[in-house]
Amino acid sequence: MLNVAVIGCGYWGNHLIRNFNSSPNWNVKYIADSDLNQLKKMSVQYKNIIAVEDSNIIFKDNEVEAVVISTPVSSHYELAKKSLLSGKHTWVEKPLTSSSEEAQELIEISKRMNRLLHVDHTFIYTPAVRKIKDLVYNNVLGDILYFDSTRVNLGLFQHDVNVIWDLAPHDISILKYVVGKKPVSVSATGKSFHKYSSNDIPSIAFLTIEFEDGSIAHINVNWISPVKIRQIIMGGSSKMIVFDDMETVSKVKVFDSGVEITQREDIYDVLIQYRTGDMYSPAIKNFEALAFECTHFYDCIVNNIESETNGESGLYVVKILEAADKSLAEKGKPVFFD
Ligand SMILES: NC(=O)c1ccc[n+]([C@@H]2O[C@H](COP(=O)([O-])OP(=O)(O)OC[C@H]3O[C@@H](n4cnc5c(N)ncnc54)[C@H](O)[C@@H]3O)[C@@H](O)[C@H]2O)c1
Repeated sequence: MLNVAVIGCGYWGNHLIRNFNSSPNWNVKYIADSDLNQLKKMSVQYKNIIAVEDSNIIFKDNEVEAVVISTPVSSHYELAKKSLLSGKHTWVEKPLTSSSEEAQELIEISKRMNRLLHVDHTFIYTPAVRKIKDLVYNNVLGDILYFDSTRVNLGLFQHDVNVIWDLAPHDISILKYVVGKKPVSVSATGKSFHKYSSNDIPSIAFLTIEFEDGSIAHINVNWISPVKIRQIIMGGSSKMIVFDDMETVSKVKVFDSGVEITQREDIYDVLIQYRTGDMYSPAIKNFEALAFECTHFYDCIVNNIESETNGESGLYVVKILEAADKSLAEKGKPVFFD
């Protein structure tokens, strides 16, 4: 068993504490929150865990092997830096940091200190996304042509990040894990309709990412939608997938659909043929992503191996988010990567 501390006892921290606390690999020694009321609420549920307002107590305790940071994005860098420099393996919530420079620095510190830097891209640990990765890896879909995601709901308005930084990390991390292509450019448009902060924070945005092989991804993120939609369509040259995370049973459906263009020698016109074959829903295991991820974090530490969502994957996501912000400021002008 390893000792872990969770910093940030809000909405997501609650799920993290529950999962770490019920894992046979982990002993949650501390929970921390700078908001005393939040801390008190959580410590009522977990009477055996030490609750602290000042997270420096955790960094100074040599018995703590790992720290989980589940605070707002703007505080990830400072806390993760302190954690790594104090020799703790560090789990940081998505997105890793507010800038790629900060992410790069954390990666360097983790290497220098020989400590694991793990980013909580939770979707990568879901059975559905792991099944989709298998299908792509086994070439069931053929060449991936496009990825089209809709991630919309009503709220929660965030105060320190816009809707892109809040919701798009999920899709970008899925793209990185499942297809792993190098992005060439990003363009983004978006709007803020409600003034609830000193800055205008867009609550609806559309991102387009182009990849080096000519494939394309579109991500629609929205905090002011009347309905909650969590749907990704992936079009391949052989088959297509629909991943509907709101479905309880058949989350992933594989369609034998496609388009074939043939040019006959004796005619000038091309023939366009549409294929609409069978659809099936592959069997998907049933486990909680966070529980699986807690085990993965432990295994990586004890076996000294890289996490599937390491600092580099966190940096990949942050670079695309940063480019999207730049494009947003220029009304959708594409931002190119070197
Ligand atoms: N992986 C996922 O699917 C997922 C889902 C939701 C949120 N998140 C991420 O989790 C993080 C937290 O989000 P949330 O929705 O739980 O927010 P939240 O506001 O509900 O909770 C954040 C908590 O951190 C505390 N806090 C703030 N600054 C602190 C500091 N410097 N030291 C200690 N405590 C501090 C706050 O008092 C609050 O209780 C964010 O990075 C968010 O992007 C991830």
